[in-house]
Amino acid sequence: MAKIWLRDIKDHLNQEVWLKGWVFNKRGSKKIQFIELRDGTMVVQGIVTINDSNQETWDVCSELTQESSIEIRAQVVEHPKSVSGCELIIKEIKVIQIAVDFPITKKEHGPDFLLKRRHLWLRSRLQRSIMHVRSQIIKALHNFFHEKNYTHMDSPILTGTIGEEGSTLFSTEYFDKGNAYLAQTGQLYLEASCAALGKVYCFGPTFRAEKSKTRRHLTEFWMLEAEVAFNNNEDNMDLQEEMFKYVVQHVIDTCPLQLKSLGRKVEDLQKFIQPFAKLSYDDAVDRLHEKGSKIVRGKDLGAEDEVMLTQDYEMPVFIYNYPKSCKAFYMKKDPNNSERVLCSDLLVPGYGEVIGASQREDDLETLTQNIIDFGLNPESFDWYLDLRKYGTFEHSGFGIGLERTVSVITGVKHIRETIPFPRMMTHIEP
Ligand code: 4AD
Ligand code: MG
Repeated sequence: MAKIWLRDIKDHLNQEVWLKGWVFNKRGSKKIQFIELRDGTMVVQGIVTINDSNQETWDVCSELTQESSIEIRAQVVEHPKSVSGCELIIKEIKVIQIAVDFPITKKEHGPDFLLKRRHLWLRSRLQRSIMHVRSQIIKALHNFFHEKNYTHMDSPILTGTIGEEGSTLFSTEYFDKGNAYLAQTGQLYLEASCAALGKVYCFGPTFRAEKSKTRRHLTEFWMLEAEVAFNNNEDNMDLQEEMFKYVVQHVIDTCPLQLKSLGRKVEDLQKFIQPFAKLSYDDAVDRLHEKGSKIVRGKDLGAEDEVMLTQDYEMPVFIYNYPKSCKAFYMKKDPNNSERVLCSDLLVPGYGEVIGASQREDDLETLTQNIIDFGLNPESFDWYLDLRKYGTFEHSGFGIGLERTVSVITGVKHIRETIPFPRMMTHIEP
């Protein structure tokens, strides 16, 4: 018999089927027992009575515990009130294994207790919903760029050059070549790919030895980066806005059940598909001063500044043209103000930065000088500088953090719940 998943159960209405899964929950009385059966695709209620089955099945059911694995024979009947539209009248139960004392129960558990048991915690209803939304966000990102004829170009994880800055590098010995670094970004390689293929994106894990223990930082996170030839900083912001809205709309369309179980209202997500606001860094500092912030002009915005600044908005906000000194070496100097660079951060109200973006410095001399000014060695960037020697070109790109995107779309407060197995300063297992 072909395998049936609970998600497809309504195709088998009024039929008798065999199904496999885990006991998510069980309750009952002397005459009737209810099993919530889950198989990863859905949870469907099964009903056991002696009348519909027999004494043996009843007794087997009585022994079942949370997360026991079972196989059942059941009649699929209509149940309009349930999510699947169906219910299972159970005729027979075969036990695959009785799970003894599954550690995660209905009572409240602290985050450390749950993180240590992440391999089991993933089975809970909320975590399954978050992972499903994450998977749909990934799909939407790929769809968006393929619909626009971008080429997906993977960038390396083991690298010889610093991508963002030296202080958060993970390094490892690399044969007789000294240290290799785990990629902080795919950007520099993506710029080379961009000169070859025009419109490109990469999507992979990136690594930062962040010492911060905030709810927005992981040491291993996934980033989608896009790079476009002959795009300036304005074009770049337009592209980000279009992409972000596309992703939000896709989640609204494909994840209604998950959003409901997460308590995330569609009205709140619709705020993310209104036109985005734009504010220059200097205007943002003025605004912050009016609000009582002590931020010094020329310094980076802190997490608190980002929250204070976005309080006035419902929709995401681009802050553009930051001071050169608080951004990476590769950003293009603002032709109107040599202390500013052509860049943007996309901030989500109440959360903060989700995308980092810029137009790239395309002048060979300026870029070489930047590398020196940032205390880096131009020799290790010789291949990157070649891109400014052989047909240099205006180009811009950005990186969107996947886990931060999952956080803002699902409304999940802490980034540790937005990736299957989070890596943080204090957590490497499981
Ligand atoms: O702003 P960042 O550092 O930009 C870059 O890496 C550029 N090279 C991207 C590019 O232009 N191609 O990082 C981009 C995004 C951030 O906005 C944030 O969403 C995410 O990556 N991010 C992190 N997410 C989780 N944990 C961390 N430690 C993160 N650091 C950055
Ligand atoms: Mg950034």
